[in-house]
Amino acid sequence: MKSVSVLHLLSNKRIQSFRAVREEETALMIDEIESASSSSSPINLSEMFATLTNNVVCRVALGRKYGGESGRRFSRLLSEFVELLGVFNVGDFIPWLAWVSHVNGLEARMDKVAKEFDDFLEGVVEEHMAQQKKGPNTDSVNGTEQKDFVDVLFWFQGETLVGFKFAGFGFKAFLLDVFAAGTDTTYTSLEWAMMELHPNVMKQLQKEVREIAGEKSDIKEKDLEKMDYLKAVIKETLRLHPPIPLLVPRESAQDIEVMGYNIAAGTRVIVNTWAIGRDPMSWEQPEEFIPERFLNSSIDFKGHDFQLIPFGSGRRGCPGILFATTINELFLANLVHKFDWTLPGGAKEKDIDLSESIGITTHRKFPLIAIANKCSS
Ligand code: HEM
Repeated sequence: MKSVSVLHLLSNKRIQSFRAVREEETALMIDEIESASSSSSPINLSEMFATLTNNVVCRVALGRKYGGESGRRFSRLLSEFVELLGVFNVGDFIPWLAWVSHVNGLEARMDKVAKEFDDFLEGVVEEHMAQQKKGPNTDSVNGTEQKDFVDVLFWFQGETLVGFKFAGFGFKAFLLDVFAAGTDTTYTSLEWAMMELHPNVMKQLQKEVREIAGEKSDIKEKDLEKMDYLKAVIKETLRLHPPIPLLVPRESAQDIEVMGYNIAAGTRVIVNTWAIGRDPMSWEQPEEFIPERFLNSSIDFKGHDFQLIPFGSGRRGCPGILFATTINELFLANLVHKFDWTLPGGAKEKDIDLSESIGITTHRKFPLIAIANKCSS
């Protein structure tokens, strides 16, 4: 499954093939912000970021967006799923207490979410099968044939991959994995990035984006290459606010000694990337948001520099780094390009509640609400 995703679904070439989808979804959101800004109406940025990433992932993975009631149902389902992934289940740690999840309703909630997801994804697979009978799926953006993830997965149907047969069940599990791994994480980092843009950083970022944009009315993906400060802002955001602070639990494969401690094979290993990102041994002024620290530094988040591993590292590291960073860079650049941002009711930075939510990903407990003011230049 990992090799299918790395080689066929999340490869550079396929990510590039969805450029028009990202640019179109970004432009739609910017239009929405523009109309809210004309009446100085507050914008729920958290909701907007979630919708944007959800729409992009839906179009890329499933071939279309899910709007209206089914879209709202899908978003609710996804939030509940991500919350359940992070819930403490006592039976995972003390097996003889596994019955507790039957009594406290956790198991029933999990069954309900699993069933609803299964029904939804079953519908998606059926829709694609019907489409395949009709002919190639043509993308709405540029009129060319566009293969979404489900189409690509169909190529592998019935094939045996590393000893296991890839069929309907594998499809659905895979799609669920992409949604669980890709949407919440991506929008959470946008939320934290926007939160951390205190006046000096905002000014510096706007300067870079506006200079590179020149006379252009919006930022396209090819403009991002030169935006070093923007990339530094994203890195600094992921250092301070890794969306999956404890990565994904792992198990040691063999007995090993680490810093004088003997760790037995089969021990659950939890990597605290949140603490690593704030470790004073690795970072100067670790609690401060200083994107400049990355400007003349080769430290990257691709898994080779162990002081910055928000995407994990090694063979099970995240295959969606390019997918996530391209959406985040494009949207953030467009947000600061045309607008100056203020908090509603004259609130100041210090008034923002920084509480975090529960779940496998850590996002803000309360939505980020802001007012966009169209800049005159
Ligand atoms: C800022 C956004 C993202 C962050 C911080 C993030 C982080 C992570 C982390 C920490 C892991 C586990 C790595 C480990 O345990 O070593 C992971 C796995 C994974 N991620 Fe991401 N991710 C992001 C976006 C995405 C996106 C957009 C996709 C796909 C569209 C994606 C797909 C996956 C998949 C499929 C896995 C499982 C890989 C495996 O088990 O081998 N991720 N991600």
